Amino acid sequence: MKTFIFLTILLQIFVLQQVRTNECELTSNDNIQLTANEFIQSRQLCNILNLPTTNKRQISITGRLMDYTTRCQKSISNANVEIIRIRLNHRSVCSNIYHSNSDGYFNLTNLIIDFNEEVFLRLTAPSYKTIYKKIHFPLSYDQSVEMILNWKIVLSKDIKQSQSQDDQRMKSIVDTLLSEMTLDEKIGQLNLEGVGFNADGPVITNEQRERIRRGEIGAVLNIFTPQAIRQLQELAINSSRLKVPFIFGFDVIHGHKTIFPIPLALSATWNMTLIEQSARIAAREATADALNWVFSPMVDIAHDPRWGRILEGAGEDPYLGSQVAAAMVRGYQGSNISDVDTVMACFKHFGLYGAAEAGRDYNTVDMSPLRMYEFYLPPYRAAVEAGAGSVMTSFNEINGVPSTANQWLLTDLLRNQWNFTGFVVTDATAMYELIPHGLGNLQEVSARSLNAGVDLDMGSQGFLSTLNQSVQQGKVSEQTIEQACRRVLEAKYKLGLLDDPFHYVNESRAHTDIFTKENRLAARDFARRSFVLLKNDKQILPLARSNLTITLVGPLADDRRNLLGAWSGAGDWTQAVSVLDGINQLIGNNIQVLHVKGANLLEDPDMLKLLNAYGGDIILDNRTATQMIDEALQAAQKSDVIVAVVGETQGMTGEAASRADIGLPVCQQLLLQALFNTNKPVVIVLMNGRPMTLTWEDQHATAILETWFAGTETGNAIAEVLFGYYNPAGKLTATFPRSVGQIPLYYNHKNTGRPFNSSDFLNRYKSRYLDISNDPLYPFGYGLSYTSFSFGPLNADKTQLHGDSDRLTIRFVLSNNGAYDGEEVVQLYIGDPVASVTRAVRELKNFQKVFLQARERQEISFIITTDDLKFFDSSLNYIWEEGLFNIYIGPDSVNTQSVQINWFKL
Ligand code: NOJ
Repeated sequence: MKTFIFLTILLQIFVLQQVRTNECELTSNDNIQLTANEFIQSRQLCNILNLPTTNKRQISITGRLMDYTTRCQKSISNANVEIIRIRLNHRSVCSNIYHSNSDGYFNLTNLIIDFNEEVFLRLTAPSYKTIYKKIHFPLSYDQSVEMILNWKIVLSKDIKQSQSQDDQRMKSIVDTLLSEMTLDEKIGQLNLEGVGFNADGPVITNEQRERIRRGEIGAVLNIFTPQAIRQLQELAINSSRLKVPFIFGFDVIHGHKTIFPIPLALSATWNMTLIEQSARIAAREATADALNWVFSPMVDIAHDPRWGRILEGAGEDPYLGSQVAAAMVRGYQGSNISDVDTVMACFKHFGLYGAAEAGRDYNTVDMSPLRMYEFYLPPYRAAVEAGAGSVMTSFNEINGVPSTANQWLLTDLLRNQWNFTGFVVTDATAMYELIPHGLGNLQEVSARSLNAGVDLDMGSQGFLSTLNQSVQQGKVSEQTIEQACRRVLEAKYKLGLLDDPFHYVNESRAHTDIFTKENRLAARDFARRSFVLLKNDKQILPLARSNLTITLVGPLADDRRNLLGAWSGAGDWTQAVSVLDGINQLIGNNIQVLHVKGANLLEDPDMLKLLNAYGGDIILDNRTATQMIDEALQAAQKSDVIVAVVGETQGMTGEAASRADIGLPVCQQLLLQALFNTNKPVVIVLMNGRPMTLTWEDQHATAILETWFAGTETGNAIAEVLFGYYNPAGKLTATFPRSVGQIPLYYNHKNTGRPFNSSDFLNRYKSRYLDISNDPLYPFGYGLSYTSFSFGPLNADKTQLHGDSDRLTIRFVLSNNGAYDGEEVVQLYIGDPVASVTRAVRELKNFQKVFLQARERQEISFIITTDDLKFFDSSLNYIWEEGLFNIYIGPDSVNTQSVQINWFKL
């Protein structure tokens, strides 16, 4: 059945000083005959200043854009309403762009039009067909007669055909543009550069201005705000020959201005709706700041918490990581990437970046194909399948070839096997870095990257400075350059930028859509849902809401600088809520809060120097460590409970923030030691961007609440959890080791030929350590609640299954036995103990997040199909093999019950 959208425009034209009124209805698109050049030229803003006074007339147009697809009328906001003017004598074309408001109205007043111009209205509403309407001026135009034209235009669009029509339109526009471009202009489109900006607008060098004029920059990063972007886009449109607009990219990682918890924390919610919503809000804020491309999601699987960038991803599991990757892409790109409040996603870092040797950033990666396919590639593939528009290469090598020059990765796998149709951008200067990797000089590595499948060069200027010469020398073909250029132009088309370069530039949205009350409330909710309760002896938490004195101590208790984490490009930490403020606002009138600092964040002089060289803002207290600790102890003596807010600084995690020791800084440990000695209950509130080694802290603290770097609303969220206004339900998505010596440590490891069993302690010749247990401190999937859940016996509907279409159903009763309402993440793992290749001891295959009121019980069921049994065999075929399987269900990856089944092929 055909679906039609009716776009109705009530158009009134007031020609000044006229009295006559005409009314007519127009039902079809006017055929506007723009050549490709004119189409491009129409991007130029009309300059009205030099019109001779005798030839001009002034018009005002008001209208409203409506969608009648459903029975309810819907106004179309933020559509582009463009006046295109064609000078008849020398056929020059230009346009002015306006937008419909939130009710679909637009109001163009006092437009100055020349008598010798044909005037068209171009309407580009996202997801609707672009339409052109000619504005016919009365022939018998008489200045002495007042005339009002009331036009009603009805347009229709066949949605079913729109995709292919749109593809055709994209192809024809991009083809035409390409046919107009010189080789150098095509190469220019492949160059992505960073620019600065301030309140007055963009800050660019003279060389950059020249490059823009010559069409040698295709996209820019690190600039936002509508004012700055409008100015830079105007420069691109008005100074370059072909007026191809820029894409504007930025590191929007966990929120734009309203900062959400770091991605590792968001993944700990195990809540895909929430994660998608976080990306949706980030997209809305980013586009309100005129951005249209974000370098997110980061979907690198990581097994090594020494690697500071573990905070940017979703942890160690490929199944969960894939779900998060898809949710983020959906959130950013929405249902239509050209909508004014959606952005193009760029998943990264393709590929295997999270497997850097020894957890040292930018280090070598080496792994077997089987491990790659099983554990590291799935989230990238999930991002492709969710429709991500772009991908960023990684800094590391894969099988001896750095990913930025890796044809197997970027073409064979990504495009040919996974059917990726977007564009590939390098990570910052990654192409240049191929030189120290040992692949040759800049010309050599640029040619290799292009031939491997890179489309856009971030920051190396390798394409710009060498590709022309490489064409002459036969190192790359013009077709390969054109192919890359086509992909960049297609992205611009998909974003709506070829129809309207200022599509995302809307000064009013910057005031209404950024850092709103709603977004902050969402940030608070996301934050509290991301916290993981690691320990809670004697049910010390939640704390009483009255008759209580607490010592709030620790270098992060009254801190705002560190709360946004390491990746909050546009976030403003001065707007973040500290724990002290959060507690005081929530409950400060009812309890007594004694706040003392207790310790510096860190005192290691070299690390201090390094972090402060990059804006760490770590200021050492004037007092000695002993003085600060003494003050803390005095307060502690007067208190019922000590809440110690300790952890890393934001600069200790993230890019270029690998640590060999992932414990708390020594000065903070000394504070904790003194607090533990008081024998008062100590609640540790942790802030950090990675799993840390907390074995000693775990032995002595009464409770530990992991709060990561929770973003703008940190303090409010922590207060709500500490005092039981919200019952924590987060679960770890990365294993916490007992000691750095155990790393890499992850739940889905192989069994080995000599698995160690702790009940056989004296058996030495097993895969084990002499000096420490193999077990993690806190396993994957772990997290407590203020209430207690129990899992009833597992009930499988069969234990012998046959063939591809058979299904296994497992049921059990989940009970909330405690006094608080709460959520449990019910996790299902499968182990395949006999197979043609060695398998992980267990792998996450499904989970459900279940809310139960206090004392409530609910039957939970999982359905398992042969898809859940599949794995990559030694030839990398994705198959399942018959035999024995163990199904494990529980609240984390260790404490599970199991059912054993046999699944046969026939
Ligand atoms: C380098 C980082 O590796 C990458 O994640 C980021 O998106 C780019 N710089 C751009 O800032």
